[in-house]
Amino acid sequence: MTSSLVIAVDGTSGSGKSSTSRGVAERLGLRYLDTGAMFRAMTWWLLSEGVDVHDVAAVAAASSRPRIESGTDPLAPTITVDGRDVSVEVRSADVNAAVSPVSAVPEVRARLLDLQREAIGDGGIVVEGRDIGSVVWPQAEVKVYLSADPDARAERRAAEEGGADLASTQQSLLERDRIDSGRATAPLTMADGAVHVDSTHLTLDEVIETIVGLATSARP
Ligand code: DC
Repeated sequence: MTSSLVIAVDGTSGSGKSSTSRGVAERLGLRYLDTGAMFRAMTWWLLSEGVDVHDVAAVAAASSRPRIESGTDPLAPTITVDGRDVSVEVRSADVNAAVSPVSAVPEVRARLLDLQREAIGDGGIVVEGRDIGSVVWPQAEVKVYLSADPDARAERRAAEEGGADLASTQQSLLERDRIDSGRATAPLTMADGAVHVDSTHLTLDEVIETIVGLATSARP
């Protein structure tokens, strides 16, 4: 596998992007970048600083301040803010509720776009998010749009979150999808050239195999 390969995995919340992307990266010996974790880290920091996340001007003004760093080992991905590992904190219900409005602020996206492109660098990486194939790295050799039925997504996410309530988990996922797909800057969309993979009736291994297959045939 060429080390410059970039695999972009976009899709809705809870479609299995993280497990899939990590699995593909492990299989192919590539790095892994979770861009959602970067938006979550920004959101966690704004909340901890007491910034009103619905005040677009305040969010925009503050967004240049935190130092956000991603560890790209697929076996142990990390996210730090000003040197503090916040991998657990960024999965909290408070962050879940605030991350979509924060992600819609253009200054936040511009700041994180620079960090994302820097992390991708010379490639050799699987990158997951919402706008990787459309905005962050449209030249990616492999672009995947991963989806699953809302029921399947809520069940997976609730299980991940230690048996959280199914109905409220689904409501929170759908609300994030609505904001992520409707925003003006870099909305969630299927990128030109993306392959749509519906994971509703596939196992994790089957989804990973599908993407490994696409990567193998994309190899120059
Ligand atoms: O993948 P995730 O659930 O961790 O993403 C959290 C939020 O971050 C999601 O609701 C939208 C935002 N996001 C984004 O706007 N662009 C990306 N490339 C990745 C995530």
